[in-house]
Amino acid sequence: MAGAVAAAATESPNNGAALDAFAAEVAGCTRCVLAQTRTQVVFGSGSPAADLMFVGEAPGFHEDKQGVPFVGAAGALLGKLLAGIGLRREDVWVCNVLKCRPPGNRDPRPEEIEACESHLFRQIELIGPRVVATLGNFATKLLSGRPDGITRVHGAEQEVVLGGRRVVLYPIYHPAAALYTPRMLEVLSADFRRLPELLAREPAPVAPPPPLRPLEPMVAEPAVQLGLF
Ligand code: URA
Repeated sequence: MAGAVAAAATESPNNGAALDAFAAEVAGCTRCVLAQTRTQVVFGSGSPAADLMFVGEAPGFHEDKQGVPFVGAAGALLGKLLAGIGLRREDVWVCNVLKCRPPGNRDPRPEEIEACESHLFRQIELIGPRVVATLGNFATKLLSGRPDGITRVHGAEQEVVLGGRRVVLYPIYHPAAALYTPRMLEVLSADFRRLPELLAREPAPVAPPPPLRPLEPMVAEPAVQLGLF
């Protein structure tokens, strides 16, 4: 594994097989209208046992053609930022809120996000990342469950439970937004540099189940003398 950052979790032989099986299932998804216009489902790519997962918005033109997320200019920037913290695309998992391209790269619609979100939650469940970095507004709002926009919450990590797992959710700017705005690129780069620290954090212990209430000892009731006579 590259660099000083431990981002790839202990590889479980089952992760990859289960994820492949799930990808094959999702490849035929017809839950929303995007199935009619896509070239193919863009499931995600990288390590099936990654500790670090990135969630973008939706595939664009090139992603739809190649079946791989973040292959355009935004993807090149993502790769560069990863290299800056000693990681490669193969060390992390990269995917999107929507697995199919919206025509003309329009914004995802609420009903499309709703139809697609269980695919993302299942990916999180199967991969088991420690840190989920949401790229931009759509992924951040979906996974935080809050309406706060990325400008307000970028760089502020929070612990959440996703796909039945406790993870550190880390909202950052979308690389596409930072491509042509130098100030945004500076902020994105600074937020990115905190990823090694977040990955090194001890996972918070899962709260133990509340103790069972001890059974009341069976104490023989003193015989009540009914005053019948
Ligand atoms: N490419 C993707 O795969 N997702 C985005 O959000 C942007 C570009």
